[in-house]
Amino acid sequence: MYKLGLIGYPIGHSSSPWIHEQLMKQQGVQGKYDLLEIHPDKFDEEISSLKEKGLDGFNVTVPFKEKIIPHLDAIDESALHLGAVNTVKRTENGWIGYNTDGSGFVHSLKNRFPDIFQSGSKALLLGSGGAARGIYEALTGSGMDSVDIANRTIGRAEEVIEQISSRAQAEALTLAEAEESLGSYDLVVQTTTVGMSPNDQQTIIRLNRLTKGTVVSDIVYRPMKTKFLKEAEINGARVHYGHEMLLQQAVYAFKIWTDTEPEALPLLDKFEQKLKGV
Ligand code: ATR
Repeated sequence: MYKLGLIGYPIGHSSSPWIHEQLMKQQGVQGKYDLLEIHPDKFDEEISSLKEKGLDGFNVTVPFKEKIIPHLDAIDESALHLGAVNTVKRTENGWIGYNTDGSGFVHSLKNRFPDIFQSGSKALLLGSGGAARGIYEALTGSGMDSVDIANRTIGRAEEVIEQISSRAQAEALTLAEAEESLGSYDLVVQTTTVGMSPNDQQTIIRLNRLTKGTVVSDIVYRPMKTKFLKEAEINGARVHYGHEMLLQQAVYAFKIWTDTEPEALPLLDKFEQKLKGV
């Protein structure tokens, strides 16, 4: 009987319990996945008491992905490189931290659009927060030759490129520069919360200069089809949704905890129906 859960704040609307219950059914695993909301002011004391609860593993979301690190006994290389953890597993050597966000993103993208992972492909990330860092690390490690980052505050984009070293070419841009040079990218990824419900009429940049066939991805999954993705489609793009990444990062976390081989694709339709409220 696995005892699993999610820590974060606020997490009342999280889809993670639903996803992990589906994965337990798929893999014939017994267990429970609970929402363990922690107020940021009480983080240190609540984490100490979490150690007593005998959890086998848990996910970590905003705002604790960095704050959890001093409480761990070990951390895998990629999470260490990023300075952010979204999955913790209890082992006989204590709590081990991982990060499945970036690998979940890349895997879900590769499933649908393998053609963009070719030499010479160019990607553009919009944003420079925690999500952008994970995706940048995974994309630059996945064979993309060039991954540029545009951000409202260009200095933060420069910091991400400096801190997460890679063999890919990378340039920091302003959002206005990104709009101008949009036509030269094979992949554009929106990594900020801009466009998230209830602010679903916002888009971070205009997409009228897109080249047809470019893959445009938005990590926001409420609404499922953001205004950004609608505009991308109008401009001839192929779109990749935030819930595809969400599902795949959960699958990787489940695999770490249970040593099973869970699959995301058989759950995708059902997850879409759930998000649409059908
Ligand atoms: P997280 O770690 O959850 O990704 P974050 O560190 O607060 O969150 O980063 C949020 C990202 O969204 C940043 O890239 C931020 O741009 P700045 O670095 O300039 O703050 C971006 N962002 C948030 N609101 C935005 C807006 N209205 N327009 C453009 N970018 C925005």
